[in-house]
Amino acid sequence: MSDVDLDVHRSTEDVIEALREDVREGLSAARKWLPSKWFYDARGSELFERITELPEYYPTRSEREVLRREAPEIAAVTGARTLVELGSGSSEKTRLLLDALGAHGTLEEFVPLDVSEAALAEAADAIARDYPALTVRGVVGDFTEHLGLLPGERPRIVAFLGGTIGNFLPTDRAKFLRSVRDVLAEGEWLLLGTDLVKDAGTLVRAYDDAQGVTAEFNRNVLRVLNERLGADFDPAAFEHVSHWDAENEWIEMRLRARAGTRVHIPGAGMEVTFAAGEYVRTEISAKFRPEGVRAELADAGLAVERWWTDAKGLFGVSLSRAVA
Ligand code: AVJ
Repeated sequence: MSDVDLDVHRSTEDVIEALREDVREGLSAARKWLPSKWFYDARGSELFERITELPEYYPTRSEREVLRREAPEIAAVTGARTLVELGSGSSEKTRLLLDALGAHGTLEEFVPLDVSEAALAEAADAIARDYPALTVRGVVGDFTEHLGLLPGERPRIVAFLGGTIGNFLPTDRAKFLRSVRDVLAEGEWLLLGTDLVKDAGTLVRAYDDAQGVTAEFNRNVLRVLNERLGADFDPAAFEHVSHWDAENEWIEMRLRARAGTRVHIPGAGMEVTFAAGEYVRTEISAKFRPEGVRAELADAGLAVERWWTDAKGLFGVSLSRAVA
């Protein structure tokens, strides 16, 4: 049980209904796809934590390097009283920000927002224990829907880290950035992590590690469909693919049927057939150029005030301010 107050905007039934709708839409399309947010049940979250430690997966380390170096500057520039973290995930990077904002003397409240109530409660409890002076208010919700409900004294800084912004398709990304801008008052802040375009080999390997952890993470979405919708996917019948789409500048993860197969998904009232070699797109992870990040933020009403990368220039972090 959690000691921390959680605002719950989604029940288990809401979540299953949303999954059912996504599955019906994505698996009946001519080119099959599933939204990447469904990777993250307890097993999927654990597999993602293992990914962040893989030698091939540089984004987490690179972003941490930037935050470790720049957290005091972030605190000085923003003077934030509230830290809002979207998709709060691992708390290590959060702590770098909390420590710096705490040392700066302005921080009062931490608001983590996550779709997973279990993950959120655990993270929020650990932070509340270690930062007794801090008000911790977790929000269980989908950051594409529940942004309007963010609490906290102003100025607030909204942190959206890890490069998760890359999971949106470009039009959804523009809408999302606009919705972030709209919940902020002028002068409040967005701290955004963006993975950068680089050579294809480095990118493909980051999503296809030698140990096969990413492959298991990818197949986990099929297990989620089996558990929550009673589907009968055989995960081993699908091959993990990491594909660099050079035109769109995104990594696409796919699950490719090794042979023709038919799957029943009673919870979605569907039967789905796969031809041999047919695939489901399970994730896009867009990679950015600094000038593109700046332009997209500007279009949303966010002015970049600081831009940093790690020493190798693999990953970018921007601090932008809501403007009229
Ligand atoms: C957590 C969304 C940032 O896109 O790099 C890692 C997820 N997928 N390996 C990413 C992921 C495959 C990750 N994000």
